[in-house]
Amino acid sequence: MKFPVARPRRLRRSDTLRRMVRETRLSRDDLVLPLFVVEGKAVREPVGSMPGVFRHSVDALADEAKAVADLGIPAVILFGIPSHKDARGSGADDARGIVQRAVGAVKKAAPALCVITDVCLCEYTDHGHCGLVEGDEVVNDPSLARIASTAVSHARAGADVIAPSDMMDGRVGAIRTALDAAGFADVPILSYAAKYASAYYGPFREAAESAPAFGDRRAYQMDPPNRREALREMRLDLEEGADALMVKPALPYLDVLSDARRAFDVPLAAYHVSGEYAMIHAAAERGWIDGVRAMDEALVAIKRAGADLILTYAAKDVAARLVP
Ligand code: PBG
Ligand code: ZN
Repeated sequence: MKFPVARPRRLRRSDTLRRMVRETRLSRDDLVLPLFVVEGKAVREPVGSMPGVFRHSVDALADEAKAVADLGIPAVILFGIPSHKDARGSGADDARGIVQRAVGAVKKAAPALCVITDVCLCEYTDHGHCGLVEGDEVVNDPSLARIASTAVSHARAGADVIAPSDMMDGRVGAIRTALDAAGFADVPILSYAAKYASAYYGPFREAAESAPAFGDRRAYQMDPPNRREALREMRLDLEEGADALMVKPALPYLDVLSDARRAFDVPLAAYHVSGEYAMIHAAAERGWIDGVRAMDEALVAIKRAGADLILTYAAKDVAARLVP
């Protein structure tokens, strides 16, 4: 059947019709809001390169968590910025560390809110790398024990989901084994499985003070031109016990997300990262694009490509716009 019989425009003629035949809808249930937590009292400092994003102290985070839950957002992911950094990232698995205290405060303020913790060493190491460093190399196997110990300390603090973002080989298996041994067999792992060495993390590194002091992350994060390799990374993480997988960044990697949707039955998350968020805001500030429409379009595209969950700094704005 072709033109003039076939006329796809017939179903685009009104708001009502478009609503009826719409294939993908963003829902509050899809959203995960990243939150940065810093030392101090009553701190709510804006992140310059990310309008609308703040770094909160633990006490202020409790109020933020309540506001997030009131908007109907089901989950947050926490990033800690410690005041002390050293070579082995001692703060990462400190029972009284910044994230561990933040988890407690958020769970107390909003018990039903799902608290995901980002597990990595880069915010805690003085060299800013995601694993331990020997010479000028980020060494894989010695890093695993530190990362697993960090995951266990997050679970002990009350984290609902553990999300390792370090990209060491074997870390999902190491974390699963350690969680199970510590009595946390029920705590799921959301693995940053296909995480690329991306230029879009720039604003995050400002917010989290986690830029590497030397070199870059290309020897452990994925090479942007690689597509098939992402499926291998994801398959390995599933074999090691991951419960859900993430693709990161989101928009530049929708092909990877779509491949993953076809290949795997587990829940898929996509991280619309700091640079993706910042670009939309920067262009909107200049009046070059409609920021609200661009953000909605970006997020629905991520869902259309196959994401069940979207980590986005715009979660509060979007949730506030969505009709309940
Ligand atoms: C740390 C981490 C990063 C992000 C999440 N976890 C930065 C990095 O790998 O350098 C990026 C998030 C964002 O840009 O919004 N492992
Ligand atoms: Zn890291």
